[in-house]
Amino acid sequence: MIDLIDSHAHLDFPQFNDDREIVIKRAREAGLVAILNVGTDLASSRAAVALAEQYDFIYAAVGVHPHDAKTVTPDVLAELRALARHPKVVAVGEIGLDYYRDLSPRPVQRRAFADQLALAAELRLPVVIHSREAHDDVLAVLREWGRFPPGGGTEGGVTSPPVGGIEGGRGILHSYSAGLERLEEVLKLGFSIGISGPVTFPKATGVRAVAAAVSLERLLVETDCPYLTPVPYRGRRNEPAYVRYVIEAVARARGTSAEVVAHATADNAWRLLRCRF
Ligand code: NI
Repeated sequence: MIDLIDSHAHLDFPQFNDDREIVIKRAREAGLVAILNVGTDLASSRAAVALAEQYDFIYAAVGVHPHDAKTVTPDVLAELRALARHPKVVAVGEIGLDYYRDLSPRPVQRRAFADQLALAAELRLPVVIHSREAHDDVLAVLREWGRFPPGGGTEGGVTSPPVGGIEGGRGILHSYSAGLERLEEVLKLGFSIGISGPVTFPKATGVRAVAAAVSLERLLVETDCPYLTPVPYRGRRNEPAYVRYVIEAVARARGTSAEVVAHATADNAWRLLRCRF
C-alpha cells in the first residue's frame, strides 16, 4: 500500500465525538502514515496535543484561528508556547486572516496573526496559514516575516525564522485559494501549497489549475476534515481516509499517476513535520 499523509485535519472537533477511534482506525487502514491535526483555539490545541500523545501517527499544530483572534491574550500565547515544546508539536497553526466571515475584527485578526508568527519564529516552527478573502493582507504580512535570508533575523519588531535550507519550510498555505496569480510569490516566500477537497468539485477549475502548476516538491494534500469533503462524499462529513480522492484529483489535473502524487506529497509532508529549522 502507498503511504498517504493528511497535512490538515481537525479530529478533535465534536463532529468526531461519537466515532473518533473508528475514524482514526479507518485512516490507518487506508494507508495514512501521518496526520497533522491542527488546533483552532487554545482548547483545540490542547486536544490536538492529546491526540498526538495517544496515536503515534498523529502530529499536532497549535494556534488560534482568525475566527477566534479576539481570544489571543498574552496568557494564551504563553500557553501556546508551553504546548509547542511538546515533541509532537510540529507547527504553529492554524493562524491567518479571514475577511469572509469576519468573526473577529480585522485589526484584532492582524494582531493575533503577527503575535503567532513571532511565536513560530521564536520556536523555529513552520506555520499553517488560513487565508480567506484576505490574500493581499496575508501576503503583505508574510512578505515582511519572510524577508530575511535563511539565517533569519529581527528588524523593526518583525522576527523571521531561519529556514535551514528546507524547501517550502516556512509553512503551508492550507486549502490554498489565493489563485494562480499569487502562486509564484507564495513559493518564493518559502511556503508549500495545501490542496483539499474542492479540487474534486466540478466548478473549481482555479484550484485544479493551481494543483497542476505548483512544483511537485511544494505540494501537500489535506482533508481539513470534518469540512471540505471531496467528491464522491461531498455533502457528508469528511475524514482523513478521503485524502485519496484529493490525491486522485490532483493527479488527474497534473496528468500523472496517483502514486506519484502520493509519494511526493508524503515526502514533502515528512520534511515539514520533521522540520526544526
Ligand atoms: Ni482547518
